[in-house]
Amino acid sequence: MSKWLDNAIFYEIYPQSFCDTNGDGIGDFQGIIDKLDYIRELGCNAIWINPCFLSPFGDAGYDVADYCKVAPRYGTNEDLKRVFKEVHKRDMHVLLDLVPGHTSVEHPWFRESMKAARNEYTDRYVWTDVVWTAPEGMGCLRGISERDGACAINFFSSQPALNYGFYQPDPKQKWQQSMEDEGPRATLAAMEDVMRFWLNMGCDGFRVDMAGSLVKNDPEGKGTIRLWQKVRDFLDAEFPDAAMVSEWGEPDKSLQGGFHMDFLLHFGPSHYNDLFRCEEPYFSSRGKGDVSEFVAKYLENYEKSEKKGLICIPSGNHDMDRLARSLHGDELKVAFAFLLSMPGAPFIYYGDEIGMHYVEGLTSVEGGYNRTGSRSPMQWDDTTNAGFSSAPSEELYIAMDPDKNRPTAKAQMEDPDSLYHEVQKLIQIRQNHKALQSRGEISFVYAEKNAYPLVYLREAGEEKILVVINPSAKEQSFCSDLAPAKTLYSFGGEVHTENGTITVPGGSAGFYLL
Ligand code: NOJ
Repeated sequence: MSKWLDNAIFYEIYPQSFCDTNGDGIGDFQGIIDKLDYIRELGCNAIWINPCFLSPFGDAGYDVADYCKVAPRYGTNEDLKRVFKEVHKRDMHVLLDLVPGHTSVEHPWFRESMKAARNEYTDRYVWTDVVWTAPEGMGCLRGISERDGACAINFFSSQPALNYGFYQPDPKQKWQQSMEDEGPRATLAAMEDVMRFWLNMGCDGFRVDMAGSLVKNDPEGKGTIRLWQKVRDFLDAEFPDAAMVSEWGEPDKSLQGGFHMDFLLHFGPSHYNDLFRCEEPYFSSRGKGDVSEFVAKYLENYEKSEKKGLICIPSGNHDMDRLARSLHGDELKVAFAFLLSMPGAPFIYYGDEIGMHYVEGLTSVEGGYNRTGSRSPMQWDDTTNAGFSSAPSEELYIAMDPDKNRPTAKAQMEDPDSLYHEVQKLIQIRQNHKALQSRGEISFVYAEKNAYPLVYLREAGEEKILVVINPSAKEQSFCSDLAPAKTLYSFGGEVHTENGTITVPGGSAGFYLL
């Protein structure tokens, strides 16, 4: 079941900015189809498409107005079905983005639930019983409905929270419903219908937005885990192959809930930002970073999830700064050697494989705010608008990176020393070695406080691969009895072993068979 996830390497497509084929300044499904061969050639065998459904786009599509209809700007449902077909033709897989926690205020369910007269959707959202009562600990919408009540929100104030019930409803707050009440059960059934709709049409599963936040007043996640177990039962009965990847950040919970994989989040306690996105990132050649807290937290989650090794580490995504905002040149290659040798499926954010920049100083587009700089159009070549669109530049969804030296896929494909080729090479090596793939075990050999290198062992069956990564510009060494026998990959020079000391060149990464 979902075996393909074991060696999946994802490419995240933010559809607005990927490839525009009809000249309206915004990406579309045909653009995705046209670029599938590019993604395949890079080595990725799966894609995740950010929400592409009907929406007022107050949050780039994470505010859905119709779960079963795509946004016309991308094409039609039939076009999306063609994306599925073309993906499968190339032996690839595709995840859609399911946003089960909230809708847009424009969703007909919400419009109905705002009415004073009781109807089918009255309990579809989390409403208090009088407008003056705000739901504790949550933001809310109020004063916009004839219905007397305040409606909880999940993110922006245009994203009312769907009602899956409270884990432990407060008996004094009569408006709080339990998970077993009719309203919450109907919400879950409606969301299962949405999943059924797209799975029947041919998608392979979902990346699930804010998966851990559905049941309210559920601090340990027990209610939400139970809810996702029910979803998994439904999927096992009807779509046993459906793959589920959660944006939750707590694999011990999400995997219990039946998810196959969970994302490492860039917020919360993960220390992910210590690697690439802080003042002194570990992967900077300055060598002033610290990886130890990241590793400690990673191991804690890894142990809790029974070493299933299914914590997915993204190169970046539509919510965080581009990797190339704080790392440059060879630093990016060393960072990818890490990303592509860790357990769990790697996720490459479109354009990160060519080191696309964070575009500074952009005005927010579709609720992007600081995220807008990471969502600029893909740079394909050196033609107009870098080959993204034939529209006049002022009509583009987001302005292109104005840098005249901006990287392009074409130039990098022509240059054997480019980041693109390094990523391609790393993917090939990962695909040829089970120990490096999603389920290969990991143990850390050297990951000391404020120190370099970072060393870990990946294992599957008889295969043992030592990964030695030294982002710092200086040569480093560590004590170990391990004897690297054969070099599978090296960038920036190979390690040297003498009398139980392994010396590692500055700015290098290597994979060695033991
Ligand atoms: C997480 C998504 O990745 C982000 O882009 C969105 O704004 C929030 N969830 C709300 O849905």
